[in-house]
Amino acid sequence: MIGRVRPAVLNMASYTPGKAAGQVEAEQGIREVIKLASNESPWPPVPAVQDAIERAISGVNRYGDNRATDIRVALSEWLGINAHSITVGCGSSGLLQQLFMVYVDPGDEVLFPYPSFEVYPIFSTQFGARPVTVPLVGHGFDLDAVAAAVTDRTKLIFLATPNNPTGTSISVEGIGGLLDAIPNDVVVVVDEAYREFNDPEMGDPATLLANHENLIITRTFSKAFGLAGLRSGYALCAPALVEQLDKVRLPFSINNLAQAAVLAAIEHREDAMERVDALITERTRCVAALRAKGFSLPDSNANFIFIPTSDATSEIAEQMEQVGIITRPFPGFGLRVTVGSAEENDRWMTAFFEHAGRNT
Ligand SMILES: Cc1ncc(COP(=O)(O)O)c(C=O)c1O
Repeated sequence: MIGRVRPAVLNMASYTPGKAAGQVEAEQGIREVIKLASNESPWPPVPAVQDAIERAISGVNRYGDNRATDIRVALSEWLGINAHSITVGCGSSGLLQQLFMVYVDPGDEVLFPYPSFEVYPIFSTQFGARPVTVPLVGHGFDLDAVAAAVTDRTKLIFLATPNNPTGTSISVEGIGGLLDAIPNDVVVVVDEAYREFNDPEMGDPATLLANHENLIITRTFSKAFGLAGLRSGYALCAPALVEQLDKVRLPFSINNLAQAAVLAAIEHREDAMERVDALITERTRCVAALRAKGFSLPDSNANFIFIPTSDATSEIAEQMEQVGIITRPFPGFGLRVTVGSAEENDRWMTAFFEHAGRNT
């Protein structure tokens, strides 16, 4: 060990990102590998966004605007929310980490339904907090159990809706009910990374902001807007919380290219929404095809599909990888597959039916 590494970090497992297509191509000696493991868009950014990134290249000798002011203003105009209630981060994961920096001391509790987004337990461990998990019920949330698990030590509650990896969501009424059931010094984080793919019937959690200062909503440009590689997300919350979050953001972490891309993405958001519609059509097709083959799976409100393959999960994922399809296995639970282009979906479903048929 070099120096006195914090015990919380020493005991942490290293983060293992999904394999890249090139890595699997090299490992397996095959070509045309597709990565359906990180819920990315299958398509490059829309042309107007690519143009904006190209134009911004010549300015990267300078730091970007630390507060990303133009993005806050553009988001405010788009969403009809005061710019003082908006902050921007290095991906929505960056904002989630900032929330830990603002709220979590060693020994605090961080509460979330589980399985859910893997960074919640990772950040909890990193900050020496105790991750408290509430099991999903039938792939959905048991919000009464979440409220009942709150203790004096609970600082943050994370609700991913739609949830990763199950694709299930919570209605605004459900979130409002939880907020009413818990002490108002516990902060509820509604992680809407997949909001653009969600069932509109679930409602907009932002409508709860006016009456709940302990609510924060995080969103991202990584998924629906196809900007995962540029790391940009935003949060909606009370101005007093924006002030704290802005103190702990790594300076200049929303880089120049990301800022240019996000501004263009907001301006041309209709183009991104056409792609979202195309992915939802593909998602419907895949779910129907899986059900027609006898697989039972929850409805997905995200850009991925969760197939409960229980004990066969790891083996199916390995076999699919050998034929060039990278998915995200949750061993013993199920397989999460990102919805891709029509061709990609045909390919993964063919491989899945072949291998899952043998293993389930
Ligand atoms: C539920 C959830 N929240 C947040 C994120 C993070 O997205 P980003 O940091 O790219 O904005 C992801 C990414 O997979 C996710 O699944």
